[in-house]
Amino acid sequence: MRTDYCGKINKKHISKIVSICGWVNKKRHIGKIIFLDVRDQEGIVQVVCLSKNKNVFKIAEKLKLEFCIQIFGTVKERLEINKNLNISTGEVEIIAFQIKILNISKKLPFDESNCESNKNLLKFRYLNIRKSKILNNLKTRHLIVKYIIKFLNCNNFWNIETPFLTSSTPEGARDYLVPSRIHLGKFYALPQSPQLFKQLLMMSGIDRYYQIAKCFRDEDLRSNRQPEFTQIDIEVSFINELKFCKIIEEMIKYLWLKIKQIKLKKIKKISYSESMKRFGTDKPDLRNPLELIDVCDYLKNLSFFKNFNFKNDRIVTIKIPNGMSLSYKKINFYKKKIMKYDIKIYDFIKIKNELVQKKHFKKTIFYNFDINIIKKIFFRNKIHKNDILIFIYSKKQKIHKWFEKIRDIIALDLKIINKLDWSFTWIVDFPMFKKDSNNNFTSMHHPFCAPKNNNILNLIKNPELSLSKSYDLIINGEEIGGGSVRINTKKMQETVFKIIGLNTKNNTQKFNFFLKSLCYGTPPHAGIALGLDRLTMILTNSLNISDVIAFPKTTSASCLMTGSPHKLNKIDLKDLGISTKKIKKKK
Ligand code: AMO
Repeated sequence: MRTDYCGKINKKHISKIVSICGWVNKKRHIGKIIFLDVRDQEGIVQVVCLSKNKNVFKIAEKLKLEFCIQIFGTVKERLEINKNLNISTGEVEIIAFQIKILNISKKLPFDESNCESNKNLLKFRYLNIRKSKILNNLKTRHLIVKYIIKFLNCNNFWNIETPFLTSSTPEGARDYLVPSRIHLGKFYALPQSPQLFKQLLMMSGIDRYYQIAKCFRDEDLRSNRQPEFTQIDIEVSFINELKFCKIIEEMIKYLWLKIKQIKLKKIKKISYSESMKRFGTDKPDLRNPLELIDVCDYLKNLSFFKNFNFKNDRIVTIKIPNGMSLSYKKINFYKKKIMKYDIKIYDFIKIKNELVQKKHFKKTIFYNFDINIIKKIFFRNKIHKNDILIFIYSKKQKIHKWFEKIRDIIALDLKIINKLDWSFTWIVDFPMFKKDSNNNFTSMHHPFCAPKNNNILNLIKNPELSLSKSYDLIINGEEIGGGSVRINTKKMQETVFKIIGLNTKNNTQKFNFFLKSLCYGTPPHAGIALGLDRLTMILTNSLNISDVIAFPKTTSASCLMTGSPHKLNKIDLKDLGISTKKIKKKK
């Protein structure tokens, strides 16, 4: 029907006859001329309807916003003063000689000027996509997939699908379950990731696997989490973590070159323990200069800190460069946050003077310290006039949780993050295990990560000290991907299951098939999964994951457009052998 896309008409088309199809984006009636902005997937072009062409004018008069139309016309250069250099079609316009109405449209069911809080945006998602930046985000998402697939295919990776109807794949969330009609009372679980299947494919002799895989996790939703999301899932056999990360790094570099035309440097590696020590998080945005600086070596012997416990506590300072420019309200907000994290001993020291004298610190915690100690603390923090030094003494965990939350907020307030810069980091050397709320060990990542030290006795003796061969890829403070070298012996896998309590009868049954598979010459192998949605967020500068997914769920995991999840009628439930109970809603 069309010769060109609206958004692709430019100076090269001048004097040519074109046909375009799209929707009426804007209409201006000025005397004997009607201007139309016509929009399609690629952009907007201006169409001019002159009254001297009676047929064209008559139809143009009838057009309303969002009518679907076809235009035949001649491309003309606009007068210099009418050129709009902000859009790619802005130097030209189409003089219409025929208009066809392909379909009429009702008025849109939402007010575009008040897009934020409108439920109808999700109810009429297809229209929201048509009218907003989401369309462009979906284009970038498509390009990311295109280049990733190109890279992987060129590097001898095979694209293999794995099942959706399966049993539990432990990634730390709850499963979405699907009842079986044939096996009444039994359920499939939708995969939280293809983890076990991709490892089994390595056992099948496939050397390099990938899949653009849908994953399903029933967990609390956030601005970077959806219940169904997509992973770029990768696994390679006969490889160690160094070589594996190099492949992924090459892929990321290729992607940034293609999408952003930016040449990336080598990606830094930071150990988990260093990251926690400096940033209080394992997802640091390295564009942010704020760091926790330990000062306990200067202070631990003072009677003030007589209860200091090296294992659990920290005494730290954080330099807020030019912090005195921040408002009283902001500083108060930071203080409230500190109190929220139950940190008892803290102080904000304003540096009004370059000269360090005791009298400057009256009414601050520093008044209790020797002037030489204060000087040393200042030197370590590279303090300047007008900085603020935050002083904190508390349990490590509390400090880390607080700093993880506040670090980026303070940097944003100070406007010290260069948004045009990129921060790429590998976080490595994660602990194998962490303790859950019942003080039991659980996997830091998942139970298939190999330990750095292969000594099973050591692992059993000191689970809390063992590190894993896993790696997370962090971009601009967002966890984009995670992976590891895998356990490839039954004995080690059983040991890890035992440490995390996955050796109960029920679980043994669930994972027996996998344990068995480790008895048949499993090759050494390693892999990763990158979150496609988060990667797209980063590359489109989106703050919410739903801006990069065509049909996302709300934060309560429902779809306003289709009304899912919905109730089933009694007959359908009976077929599945299910009966439902009325449950009182918690107040
Ligand atoms: P992990 O659980 O770390 O690892 O997930 C890998 C990446 O998937 C993305 N992601 C999500 N994106 C949107 N919504 C969610 N709910 C969500 N959950 C995770 C993140 C994350 O870094 N099987 C392992 C990988 C491996 O070891 O190979 C796994 O799934 O970007």
